[in-house]
Amino acid sequence: MTDAIEVDHLVKRYGGLSAVAGIDFTVRAGTVFAFLGPNGAGKTTTTEILEGLRNRTEGNVRVLGLDPWTEAAALHRRIGVIPQDFRFFEKITPREAIEYYGSLFGTHPDPAGLLERVQLADKASSRFDTLSGGQKQKTGLALALTNDPEVCFLDEPTTGLDPTARRAIWAVIRSLKAEGRTVFLTTHYLEEAELLADQVAIIHHGRIIAAGTPTEIIATHGRPERLRFDAGPGLADYLRSRLPLSVRAADGRVEVELHEKTDALRALSAVEASGLPWQNFATVQDTLEDVFVRLVGQMDDGTLKSEGAA
Ligand SMILES: Nc1ncnc2c1ncn2[C@@H]1O[C@H](COP(=O)(O)OP(=O)(O)O)[C@@H](O)[C@H]1O
Ligand SMILES: [Mg+2]
Repeated sequence: MTDAIEVDHLVKRYGGLSAVAGIDFTVRAGTVFAFLGPNGAGKTTTTEILEGLRNRTEGNVRVLGLDPWTEAAALHRRIGVIPQDFRFFEKITPREAIEYYGSLFGTHPDPAGLLERVQLADKASSRFDTLSGGQKQKTGLALALTNDPEVCFLDEPTTGLDPTARRAIWAVIRSLKAEGRTVFLTTHYLEEAELLADQVAIIHHGRIIAAGTPTEIIATHGRPERLRFDAGPGLADYLRSRLPLSVRAADGRVEVELHEKTDALRALSAVEASGLPWQNFATVQDTLEDVFVRLVGQMDDGTLKSEGAA
């Protein structure tokens, strides 16, 4: 498989601020890549450099083999973009907007088909300023697709949307991938990345602090699997005295870290032998969100240094 996006030691400085501080990653053609990070991490800066809308300070960037800054015109024919906080002329309808984009690109998009595809056919003739947030984002998606793009850049396409609208956008992202397009998605919804992305990079203060598939990131940076009981701290004390395993108690729950299969059985036997009250047990694993919160926290308090992209 070829790489649709290649980023090599990318740096962007705004005056004294290194908004992007030397990042590396690649995105294989036909995959969904999620760029995750808190506000101000450098997501939009990176995205707009890839789109050819901002120039870089240092480093090398290729999108579809093109330099986005010096070969912007050629690139723009082949990519689709929804900027963060997508806005459009207030009085224009989604159908007119698509026709307008078609005239800009010299293409002949099919407004009805595109609006059908983003589940907005019923609003084809409504003025942009009367659309809900989700409908505006869907208009943006339809516009991003007018030139049949090979790579779609979606900068926080679901921020602020209700769960139904968010799922509608997810369905479109899945269909873009199914058609063999590459999707570069930024989001701060970890669950979204976990559901949609083949590869994820977590950026914070302009540096990539973790990269890989969601499963790899959880395996590398997550805590071990735990057996969780609803029980008081007395049970935790008892288990600590009986088991060579790490035991934590908080919020009416006790968690025992599992390192081997037999650890779960030993923990359950010990709980039963304690004679102390408990209810409900389950195994729990870190989610991408757990890992994200911990990594960002560790970086902020200086206990974690950034790493290169995997
Ligand atoms: N045009 C600009 N001029 C100066 N600083 C900027 C500019 N754009 C972004 N920044 C700063 O760069 C950092 C990264 O911003 P941005 O890329 O928008 O982050 P994100 O999209 O992850 O929220 C922030 O500290 C932001 O204030
Ligand atoms: Mg942004």
